[in-house]
Amino acid sequence: MAGMRVTLGQLKAFEAVARLGSFSAAGKELFVTQPAVSKKIRLLQDEVGLPLLEQIGKRSHLTDAGRLLLGVCTDWLETWSHFEQSIADLQGLKRGRLRIAVVTTGKYFMPRVLGPFCADYPGIDVAMEVVNRNRLLERLARNQDDLYIMGVPPDDLDIDSEPLISNPLVVVAPASNPLAKRRRIRFDELANQVFLMREQGSGTRIAIERMFQERQTPLHVKMELGSNEAIKQAVAGGLGLSIMSRHALSPLSGTDRVVELKVQGFPIKRHWYVVTPRGKQRSVVAETFVDFLHDHVRWLESGSYPAPD
Ligand code: PGA
Repeated sequence: MAGMRVTLGQLKAFEAVARLGSFSAAGKELFVTQPAVSKKIRLLQDEVGLPLLEQIGKRSHLTDAGRLLLGVCTDWLETWSHFEQSIADLQGLKRGRLRIAVVTTGKYFMPRVLGPFCADYPGIDVAMEVVNRNRLLERLARNQDDLYIMGVPPDDLDIDSEPLISNPLVVVAPASNPLAKRRRIRFDELANQVFLMREQGSGTRIAIERMFQERQTPLHVKMELGSNEAIKQAVAGGLGLSIMSRHALSPLSGTDRVVELKVQGFPIKRHWYVVTPRGKQRSVVAETFVDFLHDHVRWLESGSYPAPD
């Protein structure tokens, strides 16, 4: 056993396969090919002298030796990442990597903050995943990102969350709809309208369904569409009404043929939260980004983003 020679890259590959259950998912996360992951695991197994993983169906499962190694390796990688953080700190944040996952509505403000952030910290590489609420919760469970930006987080998760900015949901209609001229629309009048809805797993959809349920008003869904942009186009095309984040309607998002209706009970008041798994120590880079977000809340709230230089 003495003198096992293992590399950091092999341990990272092993930990990712063990966590994600697949070589290809691990490769994707680590930005390497699947054969590169397999090779690292093979070399690691040769050093250990016992199989670490076994393939059952499509998933890779840990052997007893694999479980032992994972215990050591998770602690060790955590310690190593603290070391990397401290080094980044000493280097004054010159270099680093930030992985963020945001719900789809977050894409209307996040790229606007990333512009000035990356200008201030040119050595930080940012990767941002834009997914719906369910996909974000899956990524959170797998610890795939440094930070998560989402609507109300579920209370049964072991996480820390802090409200960031408000995310009001509003009723949208084509500018040509007669309701667009009304100054006050009763909520129950929505029962006579048809709606375009986001897919199952969307946080926006959950909020809308909850509101109609609470008010015991029927919700007529005509069509399900998997993106806010597609919904906006369909509303503009006269297919129905919808309810979406007001941020998706900002002048910067190129919306001109849809309008916000003045319906009683709206906007639905929601917030975006910054979420991290409890106990996960944020990297210096992640911490800096969260501070940056909080510093820019005011102009994010107003939608008056500074023009790029
Ligand atoms: P969604 O999330 O992209 O899943 O609709 C938005 C939200 O939860 O606020």
